[in-house]
Amino acid sequence: MEKILVTSALTYANGPLHIGHVAGSYLNADIFVRYCKLKGKDVIYIGGTDDYGTPISIKAEEEGVEPRIIAERYNKSMKKDLDGLNIELDNFSGTSRPEHIKISQDFFTNLLEAGYVTKKALHQFYDEKHKRFLADRYVEGICPHCKSEGARGDQCDSCGKLIDSINLIDPKSKLSGEKPVIKETTHWYIDLPKFEKQLREWFQTKKYWKDNVLNFIMSWLNEGLIERAITRDLDWGIPIPLENTEGKVLYVWFDAPIGYISSTMEWAKKQGKPDLWKEYWLNPETKLIHFLGKDNIPFHTIIWPAMLSKQKDKYVLPYDVPANEFLNLEGQKMSTSKNWTVWVEDYMKYFDGEYLRYYLAANAPETKDSDFYWKDFQNKINNDLSNVLGNLANRTFVFAKKYFDGKIRRPEKHSKLSDKTLKESYKLVEFTDKSFNNYQVRKATKIVMDIARSGNKYFDETQPWNKIKTNKDTAEETLYVCTELLRMISIAFSPIIPKAMKELRKMMNLSEDFKWEDIKQIHENFEIGEVSPLFKKIEDAEIEKQLELLKATQIKEKEKMEHKPEITFEDFEKLEMRIVKILESENIPKSNKLLKLKVDIGGEERSVVAGISESYDPEELIGKKVAMLINLKPRKVMGVESQAMVLAAEDDGNFSVLVPHKNVKEGSEIS
Ligand code: 2FM
Ligand code: ZN
Repeated sequence: MEKILVTSALTYANGPLHIGHVAGSYLNADIFVRYCKLKGKDVIYIGGTDDYGTPISIKAEEEGVEPRIIAERYNKSMKKDLDGLNIELDNFSGTSRPEHIKISQDFFTNLLEAGYVTKKALHQFYDEKHKRFLADRYVEGICPHCKSEGARGDQCDSCGKLIDSINLIDPKSKLSGEKPVIKETTHWYIDLPKFEKQLREWFQTKKYWKDNVLNFIMSWLNEGLIERAITRDLDWGIPIPLENTEGKVLYVWFDAPIGYISSTMEWAKKQGKPDLWKEYWLNPETKLIHFLGKDNIPFHTIIWPAMLSKQKDKYVLPYDVPANEFLNLEGQKMSTSKNWTVWVEDYMKYFDGEYLRYYLAANAPETKDSDFYWKDFQNKINNDLSNVLGNLANRTFVFAKKYFDGKIRRPEKHSKLSDKTLKESYKLVEFTDKSFNNYQVRKATKIVMDIARSGNKYFDETQPWNKIKTNKDTAEETLYVCTELLRMISIAFSPIIPKAMKELRKMMNLSEDFKWEDIKQIHENFEIGEVSPLFKKIEDAEIEKQLELLKATQIKEKEKMEHKPEITFEDFEKLEMRIVKILESENIPKSNKLLKLKVDIGGEERSVVAGISESYDPEELIGKKVAMLINLKPRKVMGVESQAMVLAAEDDGNFSVLVPHKNVKEGSEIS
């Protein structure tokens, strides 16, 4: 039988699970796997934590503990949170487990021996104070691609591009807060340009991939593949399997995807068949499907297939990479460092995991970013789950208990309306089959809910509460049709809200052991068991509480003001700050943040680039006297030379330029 191997991106073990992880790669994978299992397919679902790399070692340093402690802590907490959401992986491992080391080193050695790894001396940022090279997230600065601030040395969160940390503008060490120096070191590089032809040919066979994924790949290829370093100067990581390479480890993004294999190996061992993993990974027929967020696309579609293709063993390459876009929170980009997210462990203190599954499925960021709004969450749960599905089950079952002792027979003949209602629903279910198969969870959710909607409409139209007085059989027919719809729904919705559908089936006394194909197995007689409401409405106060909690965390975050290292008066004296008069001001084309200013600094004109155009219309500034730092080394920004820097206060992304309290002439010095 065809084998399907599903993975969710390994989450960095530097914090607990949050709704972004769930919407990005766990829920969609779990739904797909549950659907495949219902279809009787041979599928396994593999995942775990990404334990190495700077996210974990930075967190460990902040807490003053060993990185291993951090990795183990969050591996456990994530597993618990996934269980709480009924996300059922066949194996949840972690890349710091011993099994993972050897296979990762073998991957490196095989690539090296096959001639796809080169060794190079290069320049890297180095923190003099801490005597350490600054790998990846140990250095932050301005993104060289999109010019956003706060870009990290590995990847920019704003534009998603990978960064070679040495190219960061205005770099700062995370360790000392100071500007790092540049020092020579040696690293090993994967020779991606050598893979270009092979990859381009392979992508030709992947026309069925999602558009967002193909577009991302094409933009990468068109920019030209470059060699990428696959080693780092760090203590925390997998040692390079070469002599005299102390202090050097594999880059986290090199070993992370290998974690899918080592997690499958761990699973096979647990099954008592240690070689079973090979039947998946070394089988050209396996459908290897990686679920992930869009920032992970290049690693899984370019670097990972390249790595897999040059091993001694013949590994299967990804069959599909259904990447999701991002989930925002209350209209703002989610950010764990700013605590702007919903942590699953917090969510679970207040609400049922099924509600989150439903909301994120109905609102999945499949083709574009989507938003989590608490108010919308409440509306969806109350309007869909409670008022539509819960109501259909409740009104049907309560009625059946009251007038038929819970026993509902299939009528010998159906009315036209009953026939139409049933037939349309069977058809709709067929559409969901396609949607599940194409990872279109949003669509599937809507269609199944539409079946419940049509059930309620039918109930209202056939009025069993009146019919029971005049024609008991007609009332029973309504109950039969509605129960049959609920039976169908209990199967079609089970990948999305499995626990609730289990309860629904229990109320109908239906077996727990069912398959997708059973949808079409018309059921003759139902016997309704104990009835209780399937879903509980969410009150306004419960949502207000969540919004307040969110606000409170933001206030706390703001209070956690980070301070820079102390400076001396001599340091301060080096700054030449003056009041200048703005003479001209205009937007810089193709930039949405930058203004080009011409200023009079006191008898001398300067050109200045200022990143404040989201807060000011250019004309507003003309004639204003503002504070500027004028002895900053000039630099070119988007082709314009900037010869000074506007001083402005920032409040939540809003800039306010500093103006003198009294009128002073341009050129006045600030001290
Ligand atoms: O971006 C991330 O969170 C990475 N930890 C994903 C790794 S996916 C895979 F390669 F393991
Ligand atoms: Zn960027």
